Amino acid sequence: ISETKTYTIGFSQTGINDEWRKSMNQAMEIQAGFYPELELKILDSKDNIDNQIKDIEQLISEKIDMLIVSPIKSKPITPIVESAFKSGIPVLIVDRKTDGDNYTAYLGGDNYEVGTNAANYLASLTNENKNIIEVKGLAGSSPALERSLGFNDVINSTKNLEVVKTIEGNWESYSIKDPLRDILESIKDIDYIFVHNDRMALGAWEVVKEKKLQKRIKILGVDGLNGPNGGIQLVKENKLLATILYPTGGDEAIQLALKILNGERVAKNNILNTTVIDARNADIMSKQFDKIDQQQQDIDYQRIKIDKQEKKYTTQKHTLQLLLAL
Ligand code: FRU
Repeated sequence: ISETKTYTIGFSQTGINDEWRKSMNQAMEIQAGFYPELELKILDSKDNIDNQIKDIEQLISEKIDMLIVSPIKSKPITPIVESAFKSGIPVLIVDRKTDGDNYTAYLGGDNYEVGTNAANYLASLTNENKNIIEVKGLAGSSPALERSLGFNDVINSTKNLEVVKTIEGNWESYSIKDPLRDILESIKDIDYIFVHNDRMALGAWEVVKEKKLQKRIKILGVDGLNGPNGGIQLVKENKLLATILYPTGGDEAIQLALKILNGERVAKNNILNTTVIDARNADIMSKQFDKIDQQQQDIDYQRIKIDKQEKKYTTQKHTLQLLLAL
């Protein structure tokens, strides 16, 4: 059985400091493992834009067959992605977008829908007047922009709900704690906090608890990862009222990349759905995800067994050939 790799896919990842990115990379590696003709090389930019530009330059110079990129911010990453695309390398953008449309395809969760889901959820809870703080993700990254747009479009057309303050975060918990402390000291009638991801939402909960406001203020996050400290767990522990599922799309990215490499026509925009996870469905969601993880482990186990068999077979074949040559 020949092991020749036919395609190298280079993936420029924003960073691997958080569970969401780790889970995305893992899903991609597992998927890529199903195709012996694929080699996946992941570079970690450590959330630094200069690093990300250098990483993409490096991948281009290594003559990869396909570039996958999740841009830290849209604008500064656009030129290098465009030049890769214009030099003939197919480009798949995942999760965060570049500016313009110089790429082969985009794949990611519907961030506008993440925002509208969060606002519609709040609107469905009450007709009383409620005050909201919105905590945004990194300025200049497309999910922050689109989540905010979706959220505010619905809030602005809902009479009893109002966003009274906005905090600019950077996707990480430490970035929002002090600004939130300041706001909670000066405004006493906050009811909800919509936070653009679960990591910052956990930080918001810690501040709310510190201020002993956890009975009054309810928090919504985004991501809904399974596992310890993931959004689903935070909902179960009552730290979050709800989280909006934002799938990583790791599996789908590799499948789409393969189609592109095989010359198949693919849609330019490949949008993954989101859904609300709250106390009513958190348990069933985590059980479903656990089941998928278990199946994945079973598949991995089978694959290791097959690999062993193949190695055994190759050694036996070689021994036989040597004997026959005598
Ligand atoms: C992970 C993350 C997620 C968020 C996404 C947006 O690095 O911060 O929490 O949903 O990026 O691109």
